[in-house]
Amino acid sequence: MTDNPKREQWGSKLGFILAAAGSAVGLGNIWKFPYLAGENGGAAFVLVYLVCIVILGLPIMIAEIVIGRHTEKDPVGAFKIIGTGPWSLVGYLGVAAGFFIMTYYSVVGGWTIGYLVKSLSGALCSITSSADSEQLFARFIQSPWEMILYHFLFIGATVGVVIFGVAGGIERFSKIIMPVLFILLIILIIRGLTLPGADAGIRFYLNPDFSKITPKVIIEALGQCFFSLSLGMGAMITYGSYLSRKDKILSSSIKIVGIDSIVAILSGLAIFPAVFAVGMTPEKGPGLTFNILPVVFSRMPYGFVFATLFFLLLFIAALTSAISLVQVVVAYVTDEKGWSRARAVLTAGGLIFLLGIPAALSFGTMKDVKIFFGNTYFDFMDILTSIYMLPIGGLLIAVCLGYKYGLHNTMHELDADTNSFYLKEIWAFTIKYISPVILLAIILYFGVYKMIVP
Ligand code: TRP
Repeated sequence: MTDNPKREQWGSKLGFILAAAGSAVGLGNIWKFPYLAGENGGAAFVLVYLVCIVILGLPIMIAEIVIGRHTEKDPVGAFKIIGTGPWSLVGYLGVAAGFFIMTYYSVVGGWTIGYLVKSLSGALCSITSSADSEQLFARFIQSPWEMILYHFLFIGATVGVVIFGVAGGIERFSKIIMPVLFILLIILIIRGLTLPGADAGIRFYLNPDFSKITPKVIIEALGQCFFSLSLGMGAMITYGSYLSRKDKILSSSIKIVGIDSIVAILSGLAIFPAVFAVGMTPEKGPGLTFNILPVVFSRMPYGFVFATLFFLLLFIAALTSAISLVQVVVAYVTDEKGWSRARAVLTAGGLIFLLGIPAALSFGTMKDVKIFFGNTYFDFMDILTSIYMLPIGGLLIAVCLGYKYGLHNTMHELDADTNSFYLKEIWAFTIKYISPVILLAIILYFGVYKMIVP
């Protein structure tokens, strides 16, 4: 396929990497990764996660970008080309996953706005102990109006950016916010590590106890790998479709995956030493980051300045990820159904808001409403997407590219990458023989065996 002169492209190679890294780096790194690690044995989880990143995450990242640039289409359109027939369903699965993820992502996105407001209003200044912080958080997530209001504001912000198409501006802005976020994480790490008692946290986070690697740890790490890298639903297919043919897919992918992993690892390092130092437990669940950081800020001079800056940047990082989720849904209805952009964005935003309300209430009013094996609506959406839809999407992407369409039809997409490490060949082998086998084994074990034999 030749360059389609009408299709818009990224302004520069850096533009693509920043946009893709902007999609990948989000709440998944700073909110989800630490609490999953905390619940799943700390260092054991980190180890399995890194293995997943290298043997599954990176190859599938490359595969999605290859598919995107090759077809120059949204995920549904792309699968009509490389898959045809029933394979088009993979594209729809991706659109549905983007939609479902947004219903709870925006609730946590709302938490970042709430905490930004709390830092500015001085509510965080009254925190002196971990008990204060836990109480503040518990009250916050149990308040139905605050939860719905902030959920609404987060969707509103996302819809606003996607509808007015200032995403380009935000991506350019990433050049500044990503490095600042990085510096803030380093400051938080230094503060956490110098608190008395922090060493127990370092041991928990970095010294793996192999006996803690259970099937649950493996599936959670796999789901998190897809979630954090924005894989398995076509977000990277969409981004790849705007990539110029001159750009190198292999080296860009390595950079995106590297940035995402580093931010996740650093977030854990900012959190666990402090968790142990102040006597919290690492198995706190989704509240972990929001519980611990205010305590760390309270032990820093000018803590409220750092807190404000941090929650502002976390909000923006969440926003750039949310944009990519909504973008997949919007690209589908505008490209394939001919809807206007405004109609698509407003309809998607409205539906996500409504379907997200039960997620917003899952920690308070609807705490005891259990669906699907005793999970709240919030947890159900998370499990449905990260544990099932994204890994299944990844499996189908690898199988469709490797077997249905044939890798030889797309290998020329990697021609711009000239290197002597046989990376192209290693990638092709992995996508064809390694990724599908491992994904299939894990999915069958959890999707089928675990359902029958609980
Ligand atoms: N990766 C983002 C995060 O870590 C979330 C996200 C954005 C995502 N786009 C996605 C997850 C597409 C899965 C698929 O916060």
